[in-house]
Amino acid sequence: MNSLTFHQITTADVKQLMPIENNCHSHPWSEKTFKSCINGRYFSEYALDKKQLKIGFYVGEHVAGEATLMDICVEPSLQGKGYGKALLLQFLQQVKTLNASKVFLEVRASNIAAQMLYMNHNFIEISRRTAYYPSAKGFGYEDAIVMSLTL
Ligand SMILES: CC(C)(COP(=O)(O)OP(=O)(O)OC[C@H]1O[C@@H](n2cnc3c(N)ncnc32)[C@H](O)[C@@H]1OP(=O)(O)O)[C@@H](O)C(=O)NCCC(=O)NCCS
Repeated sequence: MNSLTFHQITTADVKQLMPIENNCHSHPWSEKTFKSCINGRYFSEYALDKKQLKIGFYVGEHVAGEATLMDICVEPSLQGKGYGKALLLQFLQQVKTLNASKVFLEVRASNIAAQMLYMNHNFIEISRRTAYYPSAKGFGYEDAIVMSLTL
């Protein structure tokens, strides 16, 4: 998507990105957790639209040739416009730059939108973690689907 620009996330950006994190997840990261996933083995970028508005971000981890997509979020009012796809492609571009050959992620079994996004980019389900996430409905638990992509 040509109208987006991508910018490395620093700990100074996290406060501004927290509303997107909070609006996107039933059990969002705390600001402290988000900050602990910046730098070191982590890599992350936020996207700005042409009005310079922060519309979403991704956070990845890279260890020994394998990358994990830790988080990817698009502000809910802006979802369904191709921004999630643009962020995923940017993440995969960075994974290639890091010379990682395998990508992993975990997604809630109920999160069909995210699963469709990943499947459209050749991720395949490789396993399930039973009752891994506290349910988004507020009671009980739901499975995590583990997906991977070989580059
Ligand atoms: C997952 C997420 C990042 C997708 O962002 P988005 O900007 O809405 O996605 P896009 O508009 O780029 O759509 C990309 C693809 O996702 C899938 N998708 C998006 N919304 C969908 C929906 N409501 N139902 C089914 N598939 C959907 C489609 O495959 C779509 O491709 P297509 O338009 O060619 O059919 C966004 O829904 C989000 O932030 N969700 C909350 C956070 C989250 O769940 N993150 C994933 C954690 S594992």
